[in-house]
Amino acid sequence: MKETNETYGNVPASRTGIEITDAHRAFFKAIPKAELHCHLLGAVRHETFVALAQKSRAPIERAEIDAFYTRGDKPVGVLRVLRALDEYLLTGPDDLHRITYEYLEDAAAHNVRHAEFFWNPTGTVRVSKIEYGDAQAGIVQAIRDASRDFGMSARLIPSIDREADPDEAVALVEWMKAHCADEVAGIGIDYRENDRPPELFWKAYRNAREAGFRTTAHAGEFGMPWRNVETAIELLKVDRLDHGYTIVDNPALAAKYAASGIVFTVVPTNSYYLRTLPPEHWAERHPIRRMPELGLKIHPNTDDPTLHKVNPSEAWELMFSHFGFGLDDLRGFMINGIDGAWIDPATRETWRTSWLAEFDNLAKPLA
Ligand code: ADE
Ligand code: ZN
Repeated sequence: MKETNETYGNVPASRTGIEITDAHRAFFKAIPKAELHCHLLGAVRHETFVALAQKSRAPIERAEIDAFYTRGDKPVGVLRVLRALDEYLLTGPDDLHRITYEYLEDAAAHNVRHAEFFWNPTGTVRVSKIEYGDAQAGIVQAIRDASRDFGMSARLIPSIDREADPDEAVALVEWMKAHCADEVAGIGIDYRENDRPPELFWKAYRNAREAGFRTTAHAGEFGMPWRNVETAIELLKVDRLDHGYTIVDNPALAAKYAASGIVFTVVPTNSYYLRTLPPEHWAERHPIRRMPELGLKIHPNTDDPTLHKVNPSEAWELMFSHFGFGLDDLRGFMINGIDGAWIDPATRETWRTSWLAEFDNLAKPLA
């Protein structure tokens, strides 16, 4: 029978032999964190999903919602859950304000000091029928409220739905240009990568760059080839990269990106590897292990925390407990997160000093 770890849904138990103590857990929680890869709709609390469904009289049974939030052996595909939110649950800017504020509150409880998170405007505008400006304003207000209430900073990354027409991506950038706000930092691209390679979206990326936005892209996820990582970096000219695991299949290219210092946001609970690697070898064979060996700068994240049943502290814990990284490696990952964050140079310098001092202090009892 498959041995699973109750803490993170269907993540197989660690084979590394490292015993995680309460002191470790306190450490993973206390370290200051940047979260650079989280999807707003993948961070909706279970009870909020139920409340929104009731409010909008969505034709979704309670049992189906509960199934969305269960990570058993056959979890409902995350992307399907996100489509349901767009279709039935989000009806106005207040709903977006609520889920953003709650996401940031949950992140702050795990010492996330800075969050950069994705939201797909195409679904909100085309499916939920909320105008871009109104929707963005609801999210930005929540960022401001959360920063006042939880002492954190956050940035929004409107993200291209790559399953939609590339012209929708161009339209998205136009919407962003028409509704500039300091909290809106740049663009991303997500949803199903299969048959939707990055080059289809070159125009949106070019326009975004020309308008002064930062850029990132999901590439090399779902086992999609390293060529997508190469295209995202060389053609779309992204500032950082999300997932990127198949880069390990091309060590020469990996060496190039190691030298360039581009940051890869990685997700220890990514469902593709949970589905495809044998549970008994899952932790050993995961490409995340090999990325730092190739010199790549990685940074761990939750992606869809409430659906993956993982929180930011546990994402860091998994790097230690399952992937065999030590405290020095985690320290490096923290620096990578600060380097990859879309913040001004003075803030970067300050955090490099103060967060590392905190990290070192917190690590002392574990040494
Ligand atoms: N949207 C939410 N989570 C995602 C993921 N892991 N990959 C692509 N799109 C997503
Ligand atoms: Zn993602």
